Order: sequence, then structure tokens, then C-alpha cells
Amino acid sequence: MEFSIKNTPPSKQRAACLAIGVYDSGELSPSAQILDTLSEGYLNKILSGGDIDGKAGSTLLLHHVPGINSERVLLVGLGSADKLDTKAWNSALTACFNVLFKSAANSAALYLFDQPIKQHDMAFTIEQTILLARQSLFVAGKLKSKAEPVAKHLKKIALIVDSAEQTAAETACQQALAMADGADLARELGNLPGNVCTPTYLAKQAEALAKEFELKCDILERKDMEKLGMGALLAVARGSSQPPKLIAVHYQGDKKNTAPVVLVGKGITFDAGGISLKPAAEMDEMKYDMSGAASVLGTLRAIATLKLPINVVGVIPSCENLPDGQAVKPGDIVTSMSGQTIEILNTDAEGRLILCDALTWVDKFKPDVVVDIATLTGACVIALGHQATGLLANDDALADELLTAGQQTHDRAWRLPLWDDYQSQLDSNFADIGNIGGRPAGTITAACFLSRFTKDYRWAHLDIAGTAWKSGKEKGSTGRPVPLLTRFLINRAGA
Ligand code: BES
Ligand code: MN
Ligand code: ZN
Repeated sequence: MEFSIKNTPPSKQRAACLAIGVYDSGELSPSAQILDTLSEGYLNKILSGGDIDGKAGSTLLLHHVPGINSERVLLVGLGSADKLDTKAWNSALTACFNVLFKSAANSAALYLFDQPIKQHDMAFTIEQTILLARQSLFVAGKLKSKAEPVAKHLKKIALIVDSAEQTAAETACQQALAMADGADLARELGNLPGNVCTPTYLAKQAEALAKEFELKCDILERKDMEKLGMGALLAVARGSSQPPKLIAVHYQGDKKNTAPVVLVGKGITFDAGGISLKPAAEMDEMKYDMSGAASVLGTLRAIATLKLPINVVGVIPSCENLPDGQAVKPGDIVTSMSGQTIEILNTDAEGRLILCDALTWVDKFKPDVVVDIATLTGACVIALGHQATGLLANDDALADELLTAGQQTHDRAWRLPLWDDYQSQLDSNFADIGNIGGRPAGTITAACFLSRFTKDYRWAHLDIAGTAWKSGKEKGSTGRPVPLLTRFLINRAGA
């Protein structure tokens, strides 16, 4: 799909479909009023007919409107003009794209940008629109024998803005397209089943990305991890016949060798729980347990596309978590790379085990900040649902940067406390630390565990268990938090 920013007046527009806004008050939006004048009141007549109520999510497709060059005019309900928030916008635009993608129109012009989304600017509104379009266009069933495109005919979408907004809108468009490319990569990897997307496959994808954008990529093998003493990561990998990988991709956008942002993504390509086996229901969804890793690769794709002047290292510890005669057992004690011993009380709390060694290892990059991204706890889904990513950090300024980035791109996070008071839940009688903290505050104690390995730098943890994928009828990877991470890095790069 080709997206462009234009300011062509409706009278000169020749797109196969014009999308225009109507309100639930029964009024036309300012752009729609211009078209109404061209059509000598035809649109107002349609509105008073009552076939569209103007609520956000309502649509009405009209053909051959008198006085209009375009063959189709799509009325898009925007709800109430003074309550045009992100939720209303998203349902309006989703409905708009559904009709456009099903129609036979090969081009569309959206006259929907008379006003920005409430409490945001036009750049945000453009970004949301493009992210939404690309999400709707994403084909989840790539492994079906006959995969069909979502839009069979539509090739071009023009977003029509006031000429005063042209430059800002173009920047937003470019950034949103890069985010969408990154989110698509994350969605694609996330949706792949465990039998395809193995640690080796992830390593190959990282190498392919590195090759495409001329980045440096290192892959550490089992023997390298043994030399480094990564006893925690290796313990998780024991039950699987797939070899573990530790992937590092270096994006060097700032030639001045400034300290990098290190992104660490959990790359469990399938989490059966290990000997602490998970129940059967919905276990297939544990193929998504590498969504953190996928978001790291997606974000690298986005920032490399934008050529951001910043240094970033993407790190992915990856293995499977399966039960087997060789598998690590509850009660086993392992020594992490940091030297701290860990009593593995539940083999299903494996994410923190692979992350802790990766987090110790990344200190060698002398990071400015480290952000890890992980589908870490079911408790986070209970606490925050599918709306907000859980955020925990040992640094307030870093936490605020991430919260702000999430707001700016509507890929939001919510901070939970990382108070020392929770740390004692991890006490073990036999090792320095246990790998579980009991039922209370499961997301926080998971982060407490990680905090023991991140004392030497500024660090934040994003728990994406509730936001990385959708269950049920719409089952599929969301590509989150690629927009949040990309915006965070755009802000840091001052771009
Ligand atoms: N990958 C899961 C977390 C998860 C569970 C994400 C459900 C999304 C939905 C993680 O490895 C895990 O199993 N966590 C355990 C930790 C517990 C044993 C302390 C959990 O959340 O139940
Ligand atoms: Mn698990
Ligand atoms: Zn897991």
C-alpha cells in the first residue's frame, strides 16, 4: 500500500473513493460540507435520510454522488466532534478501512483530518491512522495454502491535510511507516509456530536483518555460553533438542561512539513450562513467548529504516522450555553468570532465568540504559489486561521516558513499584535467590528477580504478557511494543 500526504481540494480530487467525516449530531465535518456544496446538498439529504447515525464505527458507501469526480464517497462516522478521542478515532478508522479494503476502489483520499484527535496534534493523528491501516492490512495466515491479501484492489491511500500541516504530517507518515514495518516483522515472527520459529530460526532472521541494513551481528552458541558461565540460561535450554542462541545485533547510527541503548528481548520460542508443565488449554499461545525478541528485531528494523543517529544493541537470549529426561527440575540449583546461585523452584518461571544471564552479559557494552522486553508473567495480564504494558524500573527518568513514548504513540505502559519490600519474597533456604516469589505481586517479584542482575546500569523492564498478542477469534501477534520503543529511540535521537 502506498501512503501519501496531500492537500488537494475536494473539487480537484480524482481518487476512486473519498472518505469524509460525519458526526453523531447529524452534521457534516468541515471537509464534508465542501463536498456537500459541490453536490448541491446531496450529502445532507442522505444524512437526513437516517441511513447513518454518525457514531464512531458507522459507515455508508455512496456511488456516483452528483457534482463529485470520484466514483465513490464513503461517509465515516466520527462520533461527537468535541469527543474525538483515540478510542473513537480507532473504531472510526478501522470501520473506514474495512469498507475501503473490501471495495473495488484502487485509490482513496481521506478527508478526515479537519481536527486532530483530542489532546494530541495532527502528527499523532496521522501516525495512528497509518499504524491502524497497516495493522488491518497485515495478513496473519501466511502459512495457509492460499493466503489472500486483505485489500485486493486498493493500492493508494492519500491523507489530506491543511497545507500548514504538510511538513509535520510527512514526518509523521515516514515515522509511522517505519514503525509499521517493524511491527509487521514482530507480528510475523510472533505468529510463526514453534516448529518453524526456533532459536536457530530467530538467529537467522537477525542475521538477515543485519545483512539488509549492514549491521554487525554476533551469535553465541552453547559452548560460548558455557565458557561465560551462563548457568541459568543453559538450565532452561537443557530440556530441548534445539540448541540455544544468544543473539546480538549492533546498530551504529551515531558515529561518535556514544554509549548505546541496549534492548534485551525474551526469546523463548515455545514455553511448555518445562517439568513444571503448563495445562493444555491455550498452550499453543506459548509460541508467542518470543514476542520480546520479535519486538527487538522489529524496533531495529524501524530505526535502521529511519537511519536514527543513535547507537542501539539488540540482544536476544533464545531457547525452548520443554520437559525431558535432561530437563532442569524443581529444586535444582544453578549458578548464573553473575555468580549468584538460583534455586529453580518452578521451571515455568524460565523467562527471568534466560534474561538474568543476558542482563549480566550486556554490561560489557557499557550501556547508557538497558530496557528488557518480555512476556514474563501471567500476573501482568491479570493486573493490567491487554491495554497497558507493565513497566518497572530502577531509574525514574528512564521510566518517564518510556511512559511518555507510550503515550505519544498510543502504545501505552503503566508503571508498577519495584520497592525493596518485595525482595524478600525471593528468599531461598538453599541458594542466594529463588526464581519465584509466590502468588502476591507476581509481576513485581519477577522484576525484583531481574533487578538483582541490573545494579550496574539504569534499567527498565517491560512486561508485555498482556499486550504482545490477542487471543480468541482475533488470535494473533500485535507487534507491540515496537511503536513505543521506536518512539522512545526517536525521542532520544532528537529526530
Ligand atoms: N511465558 C510465561 C508468562 C505468560 C503466561 C505470558 C501467560 C502470557 C500468558 C512465563 O514464562 C510463565 O510461565 N510465568 C509464570 C511464572 C510463575 C511460575 C511464577 C506465570 O506467570 O504463571
Ligand atoms: Mn514459563
Ligand atoms: Zn515464558
